[in-house]
Amino acid sequence: MESATNSKIRQFDQVLEIIEKHNHDKTRLITILQQVQDVYRYLPQQVLTYIATALDMPVAEVYGVATFYAHFSLEPKGKYVIKVCDGTACHVKGSSKLLDTLRGKLKLTAQKHTTDDMLFTIEAVSCLGACGLAPVMVINEQVYGEVNSKRCEDILQKLVTVENEVETAS
Ligand code: FES
Repeated sequence: MESATNSKIRQFDQVLEIIEKHNHDKTRLITILQQVQDVYRYLPQQVLTYIATALDMPVAEVYGVATFYAHFSLEPKGKYVIKVCDGTACHVKGSSKLLDTLRGKLKLTAQKHTTDDMLFTIEAVSCLGACGLAPVMVINEQVYGEVNSKRCEDILQKLVTVENEVETAS
């Protein structure tokens, strides 16, 4: 298994490549931040500072962009980011119950979003644009429509099983 240090070096190499690929062009900051976030699943503080230096921009300006867009996160997120829609249509169809179920299973709260093992993050989000499928949740890129508490539990259990198998195999 890859050591934590090697993993960090590999991630930072990817940051260097991303900046290089975009020719240190400050007008491409948002794209660069998106791609860097794909590497880490969030935007670490030191990396933002590095990006500012590499693009010859004030650190405050880079932070300003990173904090302006809801898409960017300055907090570490889990391997599986579970977004539960709490827009009107989903709320009416019981999204709060889904949130309670998931948070209960993962021992998370409205304040604590990510499990200590960094596997799961739960976010309540506004309309995901699939109201016809309410209630809706998205895990990473996968959309689940018309979910209920039982299905939530099953999906979660499958992910936990996959992770246990990965751990056993490594
Ligand atoms: S309100 Fe949930 S997808 Fe629109």
